[in-house]
Amino acid sequence: MPPRNLLIERLHQLQDRLGGLRRRDLAALAAEFRLAPSEVFETASFYAHFRMLDDDETAPTATVRVCNGPSCAMRGAAALHGGLRAGLAPDIAVEEAPCMGLCDHAPAVLAGKVPVRTADFAKVSEALKQGPSPSPAPSPAACRTLARCLDGSLSRDAVMAALDGSGLRGMGGAGFPTGRKWRSVAAQAGPRLVVVNADEGEPGTFKDRHFLDTAPDQVLEGALIAAWTVQADSIHIYLRDEYPDLHQRLAGLIATLPAGGTPIHLRRGAGAYVCGEESALIESLEGKRALPRQRPPYVAEVGLFGRPTLVNNVETLYWVPAILGNPGIFDGQGRNGQKGLHTYSVSGRVARPGVKIAPNGLTVTELIDEFCGGMEPGHRLVAYLPGGASGGFLPASLQPPLAFGTIEPHGGFIGSAAVIVLSQADDLRVVAQNLTRFFAHESCGQCTPCRLGTAQAAELLDRPVWDRDLLDDLSHVMRQASICGLGQAAPNVWQSLLRHFPEFAP
Ligand SMILES: Cc1cc2nc3c(=O)[nH]c(=O)nc-3n(C[C@H](O)[C@H](O)[C@H](O)COP(=O)(O)O)c2cc1C
Ligand code: SF4
Repeated sequence: MPPRNLLIERLHQLQDRLGGLRRRDLAALAAEFRLAPSEVFETASFYAHFRMLDDDETAPTATVRVCNGPSCAMRGAAALHGGLRAGLAPDIAVEEAPCMGLCDHAPAVLAGKVPVRTADFAKVSEALKQGPSPSPAPSPAACRTLARCLDGSLSRDAVMAALDGSGLRGMGGAGFPTGRKWRSVAAQAGPRLVVVNADEGEPGTFKDRHFLDTAPDQVLEGALIAAWTVQADSIHIYLRDEYPDLHQRLAGLIATLPAGGTPIHLRRGAGAYVCGEESALIESLEGKRALPRQRPPYVAEVGLFGRPTLVNNVETLYWVPAILGNPGIFDGQGRNGQKGLHTYSVSGRVARPGVKIAPNGLTVTELIDEFCGGMEPGHRLVAYLPGGASGGFLPASLQPPLAFGTIEPHGGFIGSAAVIVLSQADDLRVVAQNLTRFFAHESCGQCTPCRLGTAQAAELLDRPVWDRDLLDDLSHVMRQASICGLGQAAPNVWQSLLRHFPEFAP
C-alpha cells in the first residue's frame, strides 16, 4: 500500500496520462491507498489543477491557463483569453488562472506544460504544437560550502551564528529570523525534516522562479546545509505546478547529487495559493487538502508526519551558502536607515521589470529610477503595491523604505517584496476588484470569516457605491478571526484603497 503522502503525486500521474480524473479511476486509487473514495475525491477536488471528470466525459487534449494577475491584466490578458477561447481548437481547454510568476513578461500563459512569456495567439499555438523542450543535462552541483560542513571546517553552531550575524530573515514573507528558526528546530527531538517552500503564489512575486532558474544548485545546497545543521533525515521540495520547466531542471539536478546524501523528495503543488502558507503546505505534502493549521509547524508535534520540520522559502535557502562564503555579504548595503540587501520582484508600469537584488530599504522611486530604468514611457507613478496582493496599496506621495516593518504604519506590509507599479493608466478600483476576487477564489473555505468575508467583499466592491461601514466591519472580523494570513491580509486591499485613494472608492 503506498503511503498517503504520495497521493497528490499519483493524482498528477493519472491526470498527466488521462487528461483528467474520472470517478472510476479515483475509486481504484482509493482502493490502492486503502482510503475511503470520498477522501481521495475531496483531496483531488480541492486543487484547481486537477480536472474532475465523469466516467463518460472526454478530457481536453490540453489546458491553456491565461494569467489574470494584476500585471498581466494591465497588459491585455483578458483580451488574450478571449482570443484563445475563440481561436484555439475546441478540444483545448482555455482557462483564466491566478499569477504564474512571470509578471515581468506579462501577459503570461501556461500552454500545457510550457510557460509562454509576453504571450500572444501565435506563441501559444506554437507552444502547444512543440510541447516542452527538454532541458540540457545539468552539471553536477558543486556544493563547496556543504563540503566544508561535512569535513568539519564549519560546525553547526558556526553556521547558525553566521546566519544570526548576517541578519537573514525568512524571505517567504513573514521575515522570521532564519538562524533563530533553525535553532528552534534543532533543539527539538529528532527525527527532523526540512521543507523547501517553492510554492510562490503571491500575485506579483517571481523571485523564487528566478533563483531556481539561475542558481538551482545554490538553493539545493542551502537546503542540504539546513538539513545537515538541524540534523534532518530528508528534504521535501514543494514546487508549484505552474513551474513545470523548473520541475524538470530540479529533478535533473537532484539526480546528479552523490548517492548516500540526504534524500530529496521533489513534489508538485496543484494550483492552490494557500499551499504557500507553511502549515497548509505540510498538509498538502501529507496528501490531503491544504487546510492551514492553527499553530506554526516548526512546533514539534504538528510538523510534517508529526516531526519537527524546518520550512524555508527558496530565496532564504539561496542566501545560506552565500552568507557562509562571505559572512559580511549584507554589511553596509542598506539605504534609508535599513541594513542588507532585499530582492524585489518589480512589475507593472516600469521600463525594465524584473528581479532586482538591491540595497534593502530603497524607496519605490529609488527602486524604479536606479534599478528599473524609470517608468515606462508615458506613465507617471500614481500608486504601488509594495507586497503583492496582500500588502495593500500605497500612493506615490508615501515612500517609506521598502523593508520589513516599515509599511505597517501605512496599513500594509512588504511580504515577499512583490512591487507592482501603477500609473495614471490604471483604474485602482478595478485592480482592487481583481485582487479581492483572487482572495475569494483562493480561500480554502475552512473558516467562516475568510470564506464568506472574501466572497462578500468581492460582491461589495462590484457595487456602484461602496458600503464603507460594512467593509470596515468585514475587515475587522476577518483580521481578528481568520485562521491564517490569507483571510487576515485580504482586507488590506480595500482598506488601503479607502485610506489612501478615497477617489477610487465610490
Ligand atoms: C496565504 C499565505 C501564502 C504564503 N505563500 C508563501 C509562498 O508562496 N512561499 C513562501 O516561501 N512562503 C509563503 N508564505 C509564508 C510561509 O507561511 C512561511 O512563513 C515561509 O515559507 C517560511 O519560510 P521563510 O522563513 O524562509 O520565509 C505564505 C503565507 C501565507 C499566510
Ligand atoms: S483564513 Fe481563509 S485560507 Fe486561511 S484557513 Fe481560513 S478560510 Fe482557509
